[in-house]
Amino acid sequence: MVDFEKLGAFYLGKTEQGPLLLDAKDFVTHAVCVGMTGSGKTGLCLSLLEEAAIDGIPALIIDPKGDLANLLLTFPNLAPADFLPWVNEDTARQKGVSKEQFAADTAAKWKEGLAQWGQDGNRIRKLREAAEITIYTPGSNAGVPISVLRSFSVPSAAILEDREALRERIQSTATALLALLNFAGDPIQSREHILIAKLIETSWNNGSDLDIATLIQQIQKPPITRIGVLELESFFPAKERFELAISLNNLLASPGFEAWMEGVPLDISSLLYTPAGKPRLAILSIAHLSDAERMFFVALLLNQVVSWMRTQSGTTTLRALVYMDEIFGYFPPTANPPSKLPLLTLLKQARAFGVGVVLATQNPVDLDYKGLANCGTWLIGRLQTERDKQRLIDGLQGAAAQSGSPLNPAALDQLLSSLKSRIFLMSNVHRGGLEVFESRWCLSYLAGPLTKSQIKTLTQAKPVESASAPPPPPAFAAPATSPRPVLPPGIEQHFLPYRGQGPAAYHPVLLGLATVRFTDTKTKVDFSQQVAYLTPLLPGPVPVDWQRAEAAGLEPGDLEAEPHAQASYEDLPAPATQPKSYAAWSKDFTNYLFANQKLELRRSNNLGLTSLPGESERDFRIRLNDAAHAARDQAVSALRQKYTPKLMLLEERIRKAEQIMQREAEQASAAKVQTGLSIATGILGAFLGRGFTKSTVGAVGTAARSMGRASKESGDVARAEENLEAAQQQKAALETQLQEEIATMQMKYDALNEALEATVIAPKKTNISVKFFSLCWQPE
Ligand SMILES: Nc1ncnc2c1ncn2[C@@H]1O[C@H](COP(=O)(O)OP(=O)(O)OP(=O)(O)O)[C@@H](O)[C@H]1O
Ligand SMILES: [Mg+2]
Repeated sequence: MVDFEKLGAFYLGKTEQGPLLLDAKDFVTHAVCVGMTGSGKTGLCLSLLEEAAIDGIPALIIDPKGDLANLLLTFPNLAPADFLPWVNEDTARQKGVSKEQFAADTAAKWKEGLAQWGQDGNRIRKLREAAEITIYTPGSNAGVPISVLRSFSVPSAAILEDREALRERIQSTATALLALLNFAGDPIQSREHILIAKLIETSWNNGSDLDIATLIQQIQKPPITRIGVLELESFFPAKERFELAISLNNLLASPGFEAWMEGVPLDISSLLYTPAGKPRLAILSIAHLSDAERMFFVALLLNQVVSWMRTQSGTTTLRALVYMDEIFGYFPPTANPPSKLPLLTLLKQARAFGVGVVLATQNPVDLDYKGLANCGTWLIGRLQTERDKQRLIDGLQGAAAQSGSPLNPAALDQLLSSLKSRIFLMSNVHRGGLEVFESRWCLSYLAGPLTKSQIKTLTQAKPVESASAPPPPPAFAAPATSPRPVLPPGIEQHFLPYRGQGPAAYHPVLLGLATVRFTDTKTKVDFSQQVAYLTPLLPGPVPVDWQRAEAAGLEPGDLEAEPHAQASYEDLPAPATQPKSYAAWSKDFTNYLFANQKLELRRSNNLGLTSLPGESERDFRIRLNDAAHAARDQAVSALRQKYTPKLMLLEERIRKAEQIMQREAEQASAAKVQTGLSIATGILGAFLGRGFTKSTVGAVGTAARSMGRASKESGDVARAEENLEAAQQQKAALETQLQEEIATMQMKYDALNEALEATVIAPKKTNISVKFFSLCWQPE
């Protein structure tokens, strides 16, 4: 079988012509999947997410029902024991078999199902290796909890500078919070909403995150006195504000609410990529939440996605997917729940940033019409109600009228209600026309919705990768202490802030701050960096040893001129009381920096990119991953341009020859002509894409073999046969050549595993300038 994994094509199923492979980048124009219950939407979308994972594209997956968590049920060995913990005991009982037997049957069924679709355990393994899959559970620690409520953190600079975006963000944060309080009434016009929005705005303008506790305080004692032209007290009197504060406080105090405060931060980049930069399918499971809590979380998450997206560079390739199953209620045509605005924004703007949105629902009438019109791909399963069918037919007709090929509404109506499970009608603006296809078998075991305790089992079996905590600072020895020493003029002393309780115990250190400039003509780097180091002043013959220095995130403004009121001091080594020592130590400090400061840059030779100063390997690899996808998309279209005309020419010659032969063959044999295609040919066809007519090699082969002896004698036929053979050989050679080019391309774009070349740039000594050097007292 052809390895089609890295061609940027998603293998979703098959049409009559062969495998259905959609270009990954088609999804930047979003997709919607509709169909009645059991039509196979979730199965299809799960396959789509598997394809994204295999292609190294991360996804945020909002899972209101719990069945997307099935993405973690991937068993490369397809062994009965793997299935055993996950098969449904009740179903086994109904079937009158033991659980073990049922697991064995299920394993066999999966193996067989996959085989029918040209897939196997190796492909499951590939999926598991290509991406991390994690279940997050806001408000619960069954999966990985997300600390949603710890703070409404200040948005990124990109948002703060964009007034419209900032306003949107503030409004929807306030709306989401009120939704969580089950607040009835018009969310935007209410004074509760106006006040909360104002408080958020004031806090963010001051650069501070806002947490719920602070918000409660501020509702009672606001840092503002006016709202618009009105006095706050007359607009929203203190007594009535108190009620709002109380209901927020009740929320905070309600049982189980701590879970909303624990866990990893709601940070889109960390959800989409592991600390090592590996793409992740982040399943955000919300089945356990109440309706109000779900709405709150979804709205907040989508807002974060909008913010994150705006910090990304523009691209034409698919960078990430946002998928939501069961969109009912979150994107309605008339009402305005807090999730709607960010969803609309995503559908309108995410394309430019390579973020594709995929929505699934049972009823198209539940979806906002404008939103639907923004989706380039529609995947339509069986529909029953007239209203639902009509909505879709209207939409499809609109699209068809634009492309100039009108549809037959009656036939379409008939088709939509007769589609079987897993059969979908697809309209894709990039391919044009309508296509019917069957969804492929899922690599993951579709066990159905998972319970909280099952999610717990899955999460515990697979701890999330998280950045390791920094090592604790080394302890200093504790020599004798004495009162604050009196020092000669010319020696300055400063104090590091003390945040503890009770008296401070100070020990002496040297603090050096310097600017280190790195320049390199080859990589064109010119980068300056501020550094700060602390090193202890030690008793004994060698009071200063820069090898013991520690980097400190300090600036002169962090220092205090006066010590803590109650304090004790370690003895100062004698040299530290002589001003001239400091000049010598400062020189040592420069030497130390000269020997130890280096700028490490990484280079990807495959993609010709170098990391930026300060860019971590993770961030660089994420950037490489994006660049690899974009470069690959370009290479794919170049290959298409190169091969399609040649292949079409050969196709045409084959078709002509085969027409002549077919005529004869039909006379010679009544054998039914089979039009089956090997998966490989179909994949190639799909890879080459639109307009490339699928070969009918299979049919011709059968026809040729069944030809009678008599017809072969005819000169026409003999010539046609020769032509046919020659054309087929040329075509085969061309296809082999294409395969080879594809294989080379695949290796080139493996951004995650490419060994990066390290470039180390050392500073020139003249490019190190010490800005500040002084004795400091550091509290224990
Ligand atoms: N791609 C697939 N591979 C294997 N089995 C599938 C696939 N798609 C669907 N199925 C089977 O069909 C059942 C119903 O499909 P699915 O859950 O996808 O329907 P749905 O349209 O999402 O329904 P609902 O609207 O009720 O969520 C699944 O439980 C599964 O057993
Ligand atoms: Mg479903």
